[in-house]
Amino acid sequence: MDKLRITGGRALEGAVRISGSKNAALPVMAATLLAPGVHRLRNVPRLRDTQTFARVLELLGAKVAFEGNLLTIDTQGVNSVEAPYELVKTMRASIYVLAPLLARFGRARVSLPGGCAWGPRPVNLHLAGLQSMGAALEIEHGYIVGRDVRLKGATVGFDVVSVGATVQLMLAAVLAEGSTVLENAAIEPDVTVLGEVLVACGARIEGLGTRRLEIHGVSALRPIETSIIPDRIEAATFAAAAAMTGGRIRLEGVRPEHFEASLRKLEEAGCVVERGADAVAVAGPARPRPVNVVTQPYPGFPTDMQAQMIAVCAVASGTSVIEDTIYLDRFTHVQELVRMGAHIELKGNVAVVAGVERLSGAQVMATDLRASASLVLAGLAAEGETVVDRIYHLDRGYEALEKKLGALGARIERVK
Ligand code: UD1
Repeated sequence: MDKLRITGGRALEGAVRISGSKNAALPVMAATLLAPGVHRLRNVPRLRDTQTFARVLELLGAKVAFEGNLLTIDTQGVNSVEAPYELVKTMRASIYVLAPLLARFGRARVSLPGGCAWGPRPVNLHLAGLQSMGAALEIEHGYIVGRDVRLKGATVGFDVVSVGATVQLMLAAVLAEGSTVLENAAIEPDVTVLGEVLVACGARIEGLGTRRLEIHGVSALRPIETSIIPDRIEAATFAAAAAMTGGRIRLEGVRPEHFEASLRKLEEAGCVVERGADAVAVAGPARPRPVNVVTQPYPGFPTDMQAQMIAVCAVASGTSVIEDTIYLDRFTHVQELVRMGAHIELKGNVAVVAGVERLSGAQVMATDLRASASLVLAGLAAEGETVVDRIYHLDRGYEALEKKLGALGARIERVK
C-alpha cells in the first residue's frame, strides 16, 4: 500500500490549479443514464472515485473513455440495471444510479451501501422520496430492488437537508410524469450545477439555488455537454495549507463564492485572502489564531473541511472549538493528530483544540478521505518526518495531491 512521506516545516509558496469537483462530477455521471447517447464531460478529476463510478456505468452497459480530464460516456447500449455490492461498498455515490435506472427502465437492483468509516450514513430519505413518487422498492438480500416502476410527480419534504437525497430525487423527477416539488432541498453547488446541466439538456426545473425545487417532468433529455465546476474542498484544503505553514498560495481556476465559508474562517484565523474572479490568493499568518467552527449545510462551513480545520487549529495560538453537526462521529483524525502532539479533547461531536506551538512528525494513518487530508496538512507543518499510511483514501478525492504540494515547495514523496 502506498504511503506519503512528508518532511515538514516549509512555508508553501506558489500557484496551484484546482481540479474539477468529485462531488459535482459523480451526480452528472449518474445523470448520463437518463439520456441514451454520447455525453461529454470536461474537467473531470482523475480519481479513484470517478474511476469507480465509470466502472459502475460500464457494468450497466455504457461505453466509457477518459482522455486526460475529458470523460466520454456512451449510454446508448445500457442494458443492465444492477449495481453490485462490490462497487457500491467502495463508493456510496454509486447509489445515484438508482433513480436514473428506474426512470429509464422501470427497474433497478442496486446494493445498499452500508456503513462508512465515520458511522451510519443512511439512505432512508432517498428511498422514502422515491416511494412517494410511486416506486415500490423492496430490500432483498442487501439490494434495493424496484420492478415495474413508473415514476410520478409528488411533493417530497426532507426533514434534514441532504445532498444525496436531493440529487437522487432530482434525477427521478426530471423524466417523471407530472410535477415534483422538493422542499428543504440542498443548495450545495454540486446540486445546483446538476440542475443547470439537466436544464441545458431539456429538463424543466424551477428554483435552482433555493430550498424549494419544482421539477416538471419531460419525456426525454438530450445528452450532456458540460465542464465540471472546480472542487471547492480541494481549494479550501490548499488554502488551509497556506494557513498552517505561513505560506502564500494562489488558487487558480476556482469559484471563490463556492468556498466563502472556509475562506472567512481562515481570515478569522489570521490569513490574508484576496479574491479574484477565478483565483484566490491566501497568505498565512506566522501562527494561526484560534477559531470556533460549526459545520452546516451549504452555504455554511462544510463537514468536508472539518478535519482540515482541526489541523489548522492544532497549531493555533489558543483554544478552538469545532463542532460537526452533519456527521457526529467524523473524527477519526483526532487520535492521529494527538499522536503528532496536538492537544485535542473530543466530547461527542465537539472537538476542543488547544493549539500547540509545533506538531511533531509521526507515522499516522487515516480511515477516510478528509481525515487523511488533515494528516497531510499536519505533516506539512510538523517538525521532522511524517509518514501517512493508507493514502488510497486520498487518491479517492485529491487529484495529484503530492505533485501539487511538491510544486508549492513541500517536501513530500509517495513511497510504494
Ligand atoms: C455530506 C455533506 C456533503 C459532503 C458529503 C461527504 C452536507 C449537507 N452534506 O453529503 O457536503 O460532500 O457528506 O463528506 O453537509 N441523511 C439521512 N438520510 C438520508 C440521507 C442523509 O438521515 O437518506 C442525513 C445524514 O446522515 C447527514 C445529513 O442527512 O446527517 C446530510 O446527508 P447528505 O447531505 O445526504 O450526505 P452526503 O450526501 O453524504
